Amino acid sequence: MKHLLVTGASSGIGRAFVHKAVAAGQRVSITGRDASRLAAVWQQVPVTQRGICQAVELQDAAALRDFCLQLQLCRDTQSNKAMPVTDLVLCAGLNSSRSSAHRPEYRAIEQMMAVNFLANVRFIEALLPAMQAIASADCSPSVLALLSTCCLYSNANLAAYSASKAALDAYLNVLRRELEGSGVRVLSMYPGGTDTEFRPNARPDYLAAEDVADAMLAMLQAPVNAQWHQLVLRPAVERNYG
Ligand SMILES: NC(=O)c1ccc[n+]([C@@H]2O[C@H](COP(=O)([O-])OP(=O)(O)OC[C@H]3O[C@@H](n4cnc5c(N)ncnc54)[C@H](OP(=O)(O)O)[C@@H]3O)[C@@H](O)[C@H]2O)c1
Repeated sequence: MKHLLVTGASSGIGRAFVHKAVAAGQRVSITGRDASRLAAVWQQVPVTQRGICQAVELQDAAALRDFCLQLQLCRDTQSNKAMPVTDLVLCAGLNSSRSSAHRPEYRAIEQMMAVNFLANVRFIEALLPAMQAIASADCSPSVLALLSTCCLYSNANLAAYSASKAALDAYLNVLRRELEGSGVRVLSMYPGGTDTEFRPNARPDYLAAEDVADAMLAMLQAPVNAQWHQLVLRPAVERNYG
């Protein structure tokens, strides 16, 4: 059984992904910011498929580090065997500013760089060594990150959010290059508009969180020799291509 760490699991795409991964028989550990919403997701994870669940504010580097230490110590309650994280599924993210690029809101920029970029770097630093250690011909651990089509197409009033996502995009492209031959895959998913709590208003014409979660699971389940390094998924109403 694989052991997936899912960040941003308390809402939207991360929550939908947890449900899909559990249905596919995987073990999950989950984190999010809101403890009660996270607990509601955890209740739906069968005990036999549980790693650990903990609310973590991802701007708090010490709390993030402690959570990663707990993950490294995680053991199966029945067999007492170690349960290293096999896949890192990075869903947490936010957009807290819609100001124009020439009117920067520095607090929001720092928050988005901390959550959308730096926290993911810290998860990778903490958990990648164990993932590399278990990589084999049969087991292909993955780092899978939710980026955005804003990495590929420029939208007005999204400068800070786009920059934070583009920073992670560039970082993962280099990581992918550095991990060549290691057996660890680096998978970048670029969703377009998705109808989740991320948006101030409902958008039923956008992707459903479940659509994105299905595609993420397919990326993780692809054969070792068929690596879905980058996948763009847009709702039919979006024309930001070509
Ligand atoms: N929805 C879209 O249109 C869209 C499009 C492209 C890419 N994306 C990306 O897809 C990912 C998931 O988005 P979503 O639509 O599922 O959004 P969502 O429903 O708002 O979920 C975001 C998740 O991130 C967590 N989070 C936010 N700030 C955090 C912090 N400071 N510390 C810890 N956790 C934090 C939230 O935790 P709490 O709920 O507990 O606060 C929540 O679990 C994000 O990275 C987003 O940038 C979304």
